[in-house]
Amino acid sequence: MQSTSVFLFPFLLYLCHLKCHSRDIITSDNLLRNEGETLVSAGKIFELGFFNTTSDDGEFRTYVGIWYRASPETVVWVANRDNSIPISAELLVVAFHDDGNLKVLDSTGNSYFSTDLASAPSSKRTAKLFDSGNLVLIDDLSGKRLWQSFNYTTDTFLPGMKMDDELKLTAWGVTQKDPSTGNYTFQLNPGGNSEYAILQRTVLRWKGSAPAASANPFSFWELPPFVVSMLSNSSKESDSSPQSTPNTSHVPFFNKTRTDNIASVSYTRLVMNSSGEIQLYGWDDKSRGWFEMWSEPQGPCGVYNTCGKFGICNSEIMPLCKCLPGFDPASPDDWMAGKYTGGCSRKSDSNCNKKSEFDTFLNMHAMKFEEPDLLYSEAKSEEDCRKECLGNCNCLAYSYFEVAKPRRGISSTETVSRCSIWTSDLNNLQEDYTGGFNLSVRVAITDIEQGAWSGKKAASLNLKALIISISLTAGIITMCCISYVIYRNKKVARRKAEEIIVGNRIDYLPESESSSKYVITEDDKKRIDVPFFNLKSILVATDNFSDANRLGQGGFGPVYKGMFPQGQEMAVKRLSSHSSQGAEEFKNEVMLIAKLQHRNLVRLLGYCIEANEKILLYEYMPNKSLDTFIFGHALRQLLDWNIRFDIILGIARGLHYLHHDSRLRIIHRDLKTSNILLDEEMNAKISDFGLARIVEGKSIEANTQKIAGTFGYLSPEYALEGLFSIKSDVFAFGVVVLEIISGKRNLELFEGTNLLGQAWKLWMENRALEVMDPILVEKFNETEALKCINVALLCVQEDSGDRPTMSNVIVMLGSENMALPRPNQPAFVTRRNTTSSTSSSSYFKPDTGSNNELTITVEQGR
Ligand SMILES: *[C@@H]1O[C@H](CO)[C@@H](O)[C@H](O)[C@H]1NC(C)=O
Ligand SMILES: *[C@@H]1O[C@H](CO)[C@@H](O)[C@H](O)[C@H]1NC(C)=O
Ligand SMILES: *[C@@H]1O[C@H](CO)[C@@H](O)[C@H](O)[C@H]1NC(C)=O
Repeated sequence: MQSTSVFLFPFLLYLCHLKCHSRDIITSDNLLRNEGETLVSAGKIFELGFFNTTSDDGEFRTYVGIWYRASPETVVWVANRDNSIPISAELLVVAFHDDGNLKVLDSTGNSYFSTDLASAPSSKRTAKLFDSGNLVLIDDLSGKRLWQSFNYTTDTFLPGMKMDDELKLTAWGVTQKDPSTGNYTFQLNPGGNSEYAILQRTVLRWKGSAPAASANPFSFWELPPFVVSMLSNSSKESDSSPQSTPNTSHVPFFNKTRTDNIASVSYTRLVMNSSGEIQLYGWDDKSRGWFEMWSEPQGPCGVYNTCGKFGICNSEIMPLCKCLPGFDPASPDDWMAGKYTGGCSRKSDSNCNKKSEFDTFLNMHAMKFEEPDLLYSEAKSEEDCRKECLGNCNCLAYSYFEVAKPRRGISSTETVSRCSIWTSDLNNLQEDYTGGFNLSVRVAITDIEQGAWSGKKAASLNLKALIISISLTAGIITMCCISYVIYRNKKVARRKAEEIIVGNRIDYLPESESSSKYVITEDDKKRIDVPFFNLKSILVATDNFSDANRLGQGGFGPVYKGMFPQGQEMAVKRLSSHSSQGAEEFKNEVMLIAKLQHRNLVRLLGYCIEANEKILLYEYMPNKSLDTFIFGHALRQLLDWNIRFDIILGIARGLHYLHHDSRLRIIHRDLKTSNILLDEEMNAKISDFGLARIVEGKSIEANTQKIAGTFGYLSPEYALEGLFSIKSDVFAFGVVVLEIISGKRNLELFEGTNLLGQAWKLWMENRALEVMDPILVEKFNETEALKCINVALLCVQEDSGDRPTMSNVIVMLGSENMALPRPNQPAFVTRRNTTSSTSSSSYFKPDTGSNNELTITVEQGR
């Protein structure tokens, strides 16, 4: 007997265990204790019970929730998320209260959760956990569903729920361990038509629409169809069936690599996670683990309005954000620190109120934008649209494009033109090379003249205004003359009327690189914005490349002065004939370079490709190059501090344009003082940009076997490893700045070190200003000079990652009282004296005489 009961007791316990733990209901007579008891849905998919976790404040807390049986840590619903049970509470139960509500109670009668139904004491009710993860309260008599947890979602959306205006997912607390209400919600966008949104409290963080709704050209973030059908409960799954296989083929951002094994997915769930991302997870039966199938927002530009108003986001380019042309960061300090949400503000009001002739449009390609403020339906052409914008004082920008629209009932489509007009802030602008539309931004012509993105101070406005108007006039006259001459030359037919023609659109950014891959037709001459010159005319103009006409030898070949009919002078660059590039590639590059237009870049005026010759024709700069001034004893006197500072700013702007604004992301690769030309007004103009691309073609995309560059300006990573980037140009820029302010060549020796070493030494000894050109003594602005030295030293730092970008440089140079970072030791300042010249740095032994102009070619190790 004794032995039987000893045997039976565990057996009964076991039976009870089975029975107690596999029930899926709570009834009025049958409660659920916090003693390891759980409800398990019929198909053993979900489990309901008590669980413990550590909240954000470090407290140990108890909650009632529903989780996957296969993955107990994956809690999909929490009853008492904001009413956690303290550790002191005893005898916890989930039970029906006398009033007919399901409650979570402790021994003292505290309630931590209630279904909050109207009191109905006498009725019999059952709470049942379904295989969908839904806890449902059913009236025993009528069988009616009185309450269900699916209507009280926490952070997880399960198949069988339906996202409607009532439902929202609210993330857990800060750590994803604390179920309490967090900062992020996912819901239908209150303002939007079938748009879903992630809000951070009340701020829109992301929005996306169903693909069907995206015939609307202004909605550019789409949800995968599978997610949409899940959210709208239109997919086929019912309580227990596995997901239908998502069709992801036309969803570009669907995580393809991870959806290969989609067949073995048995459950899916959508989670608003505590760091603000919505994630779709699938359960992989084979590996018995969750994997992420989709998440948003993707990347920094995926977050709504990352760059603030009038800011443009492009995650492929550093820095992430830039301002629309004609706009400056609203708070340059924040902008510098990578806080872009403040956006940009207008540099100067458009002149509309005075005279609309002073406004023009800059055209941005591949832009994505929000719905416009106005749609001007009468526009039949871009011309109409532009006029409409110009005629409306409040119009900030317009976009004209044509969309194909399916015709009702007929299977064909019709083209509908859209003229969109913005009169208030432009938000959430994105640059997207794979799609997008043209956006034409209204700017004051003076802003372009100043360099649309300059960080230049507004000081001494009167003088500046005078200079600007002079240069504007000069520009117009020059343009007219050139146009006229070329017109007479009958080469103008293909030249677009451009620039300074009031209210006309200027192609602000060149075509994206991808579009240059098109097979070239005979229409090259139309395509390339500068005229073609035949070799014969060039031979005549340069007197057969006579030495008398030779202006110099650049890294990529000699330059000649060419005298063309009608007295036009041009600089003729004869590219090294060993260039391996084919004709098509060359034409492509010319086309691209021709589109690079900036006040601080030497302008390309023509090209020639004939026989073995590849020739570029540039505007002729009578003042020659900066090095003849800076390093020439007499000419140096002409460059006072203001001129030098402006030259530095000009170079910075030109380089910034090449790096960031020109879309092509041109790395100059041979920036040096002798490559800076000066026009009559001593404006700096960078020459030889883009030539590395031409001479070396595609090889420049990767590590290059050849190093084109000049001793003294080579960054360590480029010189030693052949690695180049915009930061190698930044290095060269730093050297040029030091040369400009000191009047000395980097490779001159000072006490056994080069100019960089000298500047660094003085800087460390707080005697930085002693590096200044003695000619300038007492005649320079100390703050500006120190700023330049500081920036230059930042640029020449050994580690390319430490060096600023050109946009940083511009902000730093333009700022008045900004605390600049302290530089680290520059590259190549190893002390050298006569005995140590065999050290590793002897590679950089200065060449004697003018040899340092040579293009060096170093075979790479592999
Ligand atoms: C979702 O769809 C299923 C199956 O069609 C249906 O039983 C369920 O009631 C729907 N859910 C909602 C919240 O409408
Ligand atoms: C939220 O989701 C994103 C995107 O998948 C992920 O990178 C992040 O780590 C998640 N955050 C948490 C707290 O799980
Ligand atoms: C943008 O403008 C260019 C002309 O500048 C035109 O060729 C192109 O088709 C336009 N793009 C779109 C999307 O309308």
